Amino acid sequence: MKNKEIILKLQSNRALEEGEWIQIFDTFDDEDLRFAMDLAREITIERFGKKIYFRGIVEFTNVCKNDCYYCGIRAGNSNCARYRLDEEDILACCEDGYAHGFRTFVLQGGEDPHYTKEKMCHIVRSITERYPDCAVTMSIGELDRDYYQALYDAGAVRYLLRHETADAEHYALLHPASQTLESRMRCLKDLKEIGFQTGCGIMVGSPHQTNLHLAKDMMFMADFKPEMVGLGPFIPHRDTPFRDEAAGSVDKTLMVIALTRIMLPNALIPSTTALGTAEAEGRQKGVLAGCNVVMPNLSPLEVRKKYMLYDGKVGTDMSAEAGIRTLRAQMEEIGYEVIVARGDFKRR
Ligand code: 5AD
Repeated sequence: MKNKEIILKLQSNRALEEGEWIQIFDTFDDEDLRFAMDLAREITIERFGKKIYFRGIVEFTNVCKNDCYYCGIRAGNSNCARYRLDEEDILACCEDGYAHGFRTFVLQGGEDPHYTKEKMCHIVRSITERYPDCAVTMSIGELDRDYYQALYDAGAVRYLLRHETADAEHYALLHPASQTLESRMRCLKDLKEIGFQTGCGIMVGSPHQTNLHLAKDMMFMADFKPEMVGLGPFIPHRDTPFRDEAAGSVDKTLMVIALTRIMLPNALIPSTTALGTAEAEGRQKGVLAGCNVVMPNLSPLEVRKKYMLYDGKVGTDMSAEAGIRTLRAQMEEIGYEVIVARGDFKRR
């Protein structure tokens, strides 16, 4: 079958065979990419209109007990100046975001044991009490089911936890032995069962990634049916073991985004900061490939540069206000309107 026929098959079946995925990733050309992006964009506009949801992200700690080989805030990076925001700081970010119209706050951080279940739930409760019309999304890594349940009971409704790769051997090449794919998958399953709108995802072009791995990622997502999917190119960070590895390709990232949209028409898919870092027009291209969310940074300016997951991260030198303005302009430039509604996942 030709790649275009396989892409149309994906649209009707919402799944493909392993060999079909591999064929697309091995052989897609510019015309196939355009075809996939056009179809993905049409599907997105049909479901969501030309509207992009804004989510405010607060990066509240860069302390992390994990040592992921790709990540700039890994525990082993002694060049990273660590910070933590307390409840008051986080609420101030939300207040700022709320004034700008945000109705979703994403609390993201490293896996920082300082934020015990009690502390974190207190923070979530404070936000949901103060802003009952807002959704709180968590992105704080792997935790006990008990902790996840407590966050949910405190009012958090969404959780982002990229699976990073659905292949256990590849997972072991990206992480030390203390972190396993099995544990990651247990977390994702728990989150879904508890009732979170759950996000998974990968870095495209992460070191040692093959097209078989990408095929497995797509098949995992076909089965898991995440409500949200985070996709961005891998970008090396100078203070990590992967400093000399090549960055992921923007075109391949766009292909993965487009195919994900075609497979999961209702999903919330952010056009990521990594995409905007890899290429100046990256975030616009992401939207044209089927993304429907962007996540402006609400973190205080003083800490921005310390939350460097990869080199050159865009937006670390501007205020929340300026970041929002830039993103809004980027979306309007391609004919899209920014909306600040909660924007929950809907099975249409
Ligand atoms: N390049 C791109 N994305 C990265 N992430 C971490 N490090 C990098 C990097 N070097 C992504 C991971 C993680 C998310 C928070 O950021 O996929 O899940």
